[in-house]
Amino acid sequence: MSGEGRDDVLARIGRDRLEDLQAGGWVTFSYRDEFDRQTKGVVFRWEGDWLAYRNVCPHHGVPLDAHTGDIFDDTDSVLLCDTHGARFRPEDGRCTMGPCEGDRLKKLGVREVDEGLEIVRAGLSLTPRK
Ligand code: FES
Repeated sequence: MSGEGRDDVLARIGRDRLEDLQAGGWVTFSYRDEFDRQTKGVVFRWEGDWLAYRNVCPHHGVPLDAHTGDIFDDTDSVLLCDTHGARFRPEDGRCTMGPCEGDRLKKLGVREVDEGLEIVRAGLSLTPRK
């Protein structure tokens, strides 16, 4: 069995979208999960790393941005589920406050390629670790 390759790619983000991401924005995308279900993801830049998560709150399974279209709180330092207010640390997706405290967002891997970003299953990220 081979390791990572082009078949491991869940979604692609074109290089034209990277400028928004560099400026503190985020991009949502759709992909098929390990059970072949259509699901949503979100990618953003955080302290020099690309981070991506399944955009599904562990509390009730809705996207973090279901109502406001925003995934961060007013301080832009915490991921916020706008349904019941769960807050998640951007760096590891752990819920630090709210009805799913202690749970985590499902992390995805990100690798930068000439064409932009490739979203891959967790553990396949080529983003340099600190
Ligand atoms: S659905 Fe996210 S906190 Fe309830």
